[in-house]
Amino acid sequence: MQLADIKKLRSIKLFLNLYNLIFRPLKTEQANYDYLRWNGLIDLLWRVGGNSTRAFLTKKFLTSSPHYLYPTNKLYFLPGEYEERLDTLRTSRADIANNVIAKLVNSEDEVLEFGCGHGLIVGAVAGFCKRAIGVDVSKAIVRVAEELNRNVKNVTYVQVSGLDLKPITDSSLTFVYSIECIQHIEKVHAVTFFHEFYRILKPGGKAFIQFPDLTRPAELDAWMDGTWKVQSERSYADLTMMRIRYYTPEELRILLTRIGFSSVIFLDYDLNPVESASIYFLATR
Ligand SMILES: C[S@@+](CC[C@H](N)C(=O)[O-])C[C@H]1O[C@@H](n2cnc3c(N)ncnc32)[C@H](O)[C@@H]1O
Repeated sequence: MQLADIKKLRSIKLFLNLYNLIFRPLKTEQANYDYLRWNGLIDLLWRVGGNSTRAFLTKKFLTSSPHYLYPTNKLYFLPGEYEERLDTLRTSRADIANNVIAKLVNSEDEVLEFGCGHGLIVGAVAGFCKRAIGVDVSKAIVRVAEELNRNVKNVTYVQVSGLDLKPITDSSLTFVYSIECIQHIEKVHAVTFFHEFYRILKPGGKAFIQFPDLTRPAELDAWMDGTWKVQSERSYADLTMMRIRYYTPEELRILLTRIGFSSVIFLDYDLNPVESASIYFLATR
């Protein structure tokens, strides 16, 4: 090998190391709160960069999170590849907005999605309610949500601490919902959020929260088979957020009633009494 080739290889390696230094934490986004240490840098890039920087960061976040488009920390996409993935994501999230949330929300409702991620569900929900707010612990994903939903006028995205909903005032909303979020939070913290949902809702307002129900055979099998362990090659620490926290309807009824909710019922995805699909509790303030 010639000296020039070695130098070239070294500079490629240096570039890759720098790239990984910045983006490797993003790869573990949602799997580990550590990624939050990049919030300041991401925010700065977002502010000073132009449209193409924002488009690049959006792509990066949507494709580096195991929760969205699978952990492909890619440098390059084939033409149309990213757009196709984004399209699939938009369609699946709009399906939840139109076929689930729309059946419970009307044009007068003021709505909050807890753990909104890319904001594609709450962006669609904004189309049929008075105003909508998406909150998330990740500043980066809040930026992504703003970018992907910039044409939606009555939605705002807010970063929260991960431990409470302080930026949201008491009794200010009529409907709170959450999908694929509570399961990533330690139960002891989730109870704080149940209190927070009660605090921010107006009397008569509703909390509609999806959760993994341990009394369903499929969920019990998943837990017993340890899918949370084998679904990834990550370390235990990385899995803290990825792994699933299961609930029984009975324990949720006890907790929510204790907090003050007046009625707690359980609904499946089609909003019928529970059968087998994704399950939610609907609690009235
Ligand atoms: C699997 S994503 C779901 C996104 C969206 N709800 C959906 O279904 O498309 C979970 C989101 O919850 C957020 N999250 C996790 N823990 C949180 C917390 N303690 N407070 C606020 N957001 C949280 C994560 O940052 C992530 O964006």
